Amino acid sequence: MNRRVVHTRGGLPADVLTVVEEPEPAAPEQGQVLIRTTAFSVHPGDLQAVEAYPGTAAQPVPAGLEATGVVEAIGSGTRSAPGVEVGGRVTVFPQPGAWSQWIVADAGTVVAVPDELSDEVAAQMLANPLTTVMLRREAQEHLAFGYDGLVVQTAAGSSVGRLVTGVCRFHNLALVNVVRSDRGAAELHKRFPDVPVVSTEHPDWADEVRKAAGGRPVSVALDPIGGKSAESLLDLLAPGGKLVEYGQIAEEAISVHASTLLDKSLTLRGKNIGRWPAEASAERRASDVATAKQIALELKDQFEVAATYGLGELADAVEHAVRPGKVGLVLVRP
Ligand SMILES: NC(=O)c1ccc[n+]([C@@H]2O[C@H](COP(=O)([O-])OP(=O)(O)OC[C@H]3O[C@@H](n4cnc5c(N)ncnc54)[C@H](OP(=O)(O)O)[C@@H]3O)[C@@H](O)[C@H]2O)c1
Repeated sequence: MNRRVVHTRGGLPADVLTVVEEPEPAAPEQGQVLIRTTAFSVHPGDLQAVEAYPGTAAQPVPAGLEATGVVEAIGSGTRSAPGVEVGGRVTVFPQPGAWSQWIVADAGTVVAVPDELSDEVAAQMLANPLTTVMLRREAQEHLAFGYDGLVVQTAAGSSVGRLVTGVCRFHNLALVNVVRSDRGAAELHKRFPDVPVVSTEHPDWADEVRKAAGGRPVSVALDPIGGKSAESLLDLLAPGGKLVEYGQIAEEAISVHASTLLDKSLTLRGKNIGRWPAEASAERRASDVATAKQIALELKDQFEVAATYGLGELADAVEHAVRPGKVGLVLVRP
């Protein structure tokens, strides 16, 4: 039997996600790879998708987009990525239904895992590193990025935020990190002593960012929060600056008067890695995946695991995945 995580309606993930049993999958066809999973990551975005699912589904909707495992079979005539072979370790993303003991994956989503990476890192080798690549590319479009321009990012202690920080440090790109608590700021300072970090617990946190910038223009802001956070960042941006929104943590809408954008010629941009398969060419995707692997190899220490659960403890895993102060990803070992 195969055990798979599904839901049939939207709602609180702990309430609506269930584990169902189904027959083991048949042999893969051309273009498919059969994978026995060893771990999958519970991303906050996976849970947002479950929560936002509209109405009731006629058929159970398989959950999850990223998992790691071992290749059991490859459909005859399938063109797979370099290193993807029977018995080899792989990671899939974005593969709908990745939260399952067995996955019949589209060969285009299957990537070989370097030997140096543990299963814990392999289980998060694609989604967050690819998001980091996406954000860096967005920042790079600003002409001052890499010169005098500086990047500010909020929720900087998040799994994505730590990778963004690691990449900026690696490439010597100026960054100011922002977190929501002094506790988070202390934790991040310990991790990256050379990167300024500011806590929004202080009412004058925006002035602290300006001070940390030391007169350099804030050219780009990366923000997964939205709402009031986005409004403050627009205020911080230098003329010609760009705000990249890539999450929806805040419940409230972003309220911005047109004059805010007009007066400083600002750009407001939304980015979602979910659009990457459709927006990026095959060559770009292969190059991005190679960079994601490089990030995983170079920044292994930033791929922390907050906790590992069994499939029978799904509700606990789901609760832990959005717990305040959590550091690292929640994994499930199916
Ligand atoms: N657009 C995309 O393609 C894409 C891809 C990946 C992730 N994301 C988004 O990026 C964000 C980070 O993902 P992740 O997996 O790295 O998350 P994570 O490791 O679970 O961390 C979540 C972070 O958000 C902070 N946070 C939560 N609520 C907040 C609030 N109300 N105000 C300020 N900070 C808050 C937490 O701070 P504390 O430490 O203080 O609790 C924590 O640092 C999520 O919103 C996710 O949906 C978007």
